[in-house]
Amino acid sequence: MSTRDAIVAVINRKGGAGKSTTTFQLAGSLVELGRRVLIVDLDPQASLTRLVLDEPVGQGEGIGNCLLLDGPPAASRIRPTALKFDLLPGDRSIEGANIALLDYPGRFRRLRRALAGIAGYDVVLVDTPPSLDFATASAMVAARWAILPTGTVQQDIDALVDTLALLDNLAADDEDVARRLAIVPTGTERDNVDRQVVEALHVTFGDLVLEPIPRTVAVKRSMNARVPVCVSEPRSPAVPRYRALAELVTRAVTGGVAGEVARATA
Ligand SMILES: Nc1ncnc2c1ncn2[C@@H]1O[C@H](COP(=O)(O)OP(=O)(O)O)[C@@H](O)[C@H]1O
Ligand SMILES: [Mg+2]
Repeated sequence: MSTRDAIVAVINRKGGAGKSTTTFQLAGSLVELGRRVLIVDLDPQASLTRLVLDEPVGQGEGIGNCLLLDGPPAASRIRPTALKFDLLPGDRSIEGANIALLDYPGRFRRLRRALAGIAGYDVVLVDTPPSLDFATASAMVAARWAILPTGTVQQDIDALVDTLALLDNLAADDEDVARRLAIVPTGTERDNVDRQVVEALHVTFGDLVLEPIPRTVAVKRSMNARVPVCVSEPRSPAVPRYRALAELVTRAVTGGVAGEVARATA
């Protein structure tokens, strides 16, 4: 198995869709299943990095500089965390790399190349910023799999469709892009509106749509406490949902899921 088969990008152009929360909780559930997990924080705002590390990383000590043509190896930037998974931190150098590589034709492939030098993990989760820019396109090209958390109002659905369209467009440009693994309605309420939207997602995207992860105070507390909810409040109704996602990811990275290949026709 190559490193690439283990890379899972968590993507959605909309802020607040649940990317960072899902990445953090999924990492916790994967660790609980005994997997060796690395989180790559590809958001220059570095919210997940701040959540996971006690001290902030210095400028240029994250993943961004590793994308430069003469950059350091990504493995040299990996840090252990207190949570039994490792972290490749995010920092503002991701924005610098975007600008430095503007004229470089293979710019979206820099992350794939950087992560190819990393070994020793069963799953590499890539958290991405809320935009369809260099970082998100790089994650789509680096990863074998894509997970799309989504909210349940119309703007969320629009953002989901835009995000899937970028995958298709990259595929049309001959890129070997991430396969769709799951759409995960996240932070849903137990009301009719959310139920209807989840049903509509099922009609449009079929089995790709997982059972929604309910909005729970346990997840909020867990983020504030910086401990995955499966550890802090194992009886929360969100826990079996994150565990189901972790089991799906485990099957995918070990070759047990076909996934949906992006349409190279856009
Ligand atoms: N299952 C959940 N229950 C409660 N709050 C949630 C849940 N999932 C996400 N949230 C909250 O939603 C907000 C946005 O989530 P976040 O993961 O930061 O989104 P993104 O990374 O896509 O911008 C955060 O305040 C987060 O704590
Ligand atoms: Mg985020």
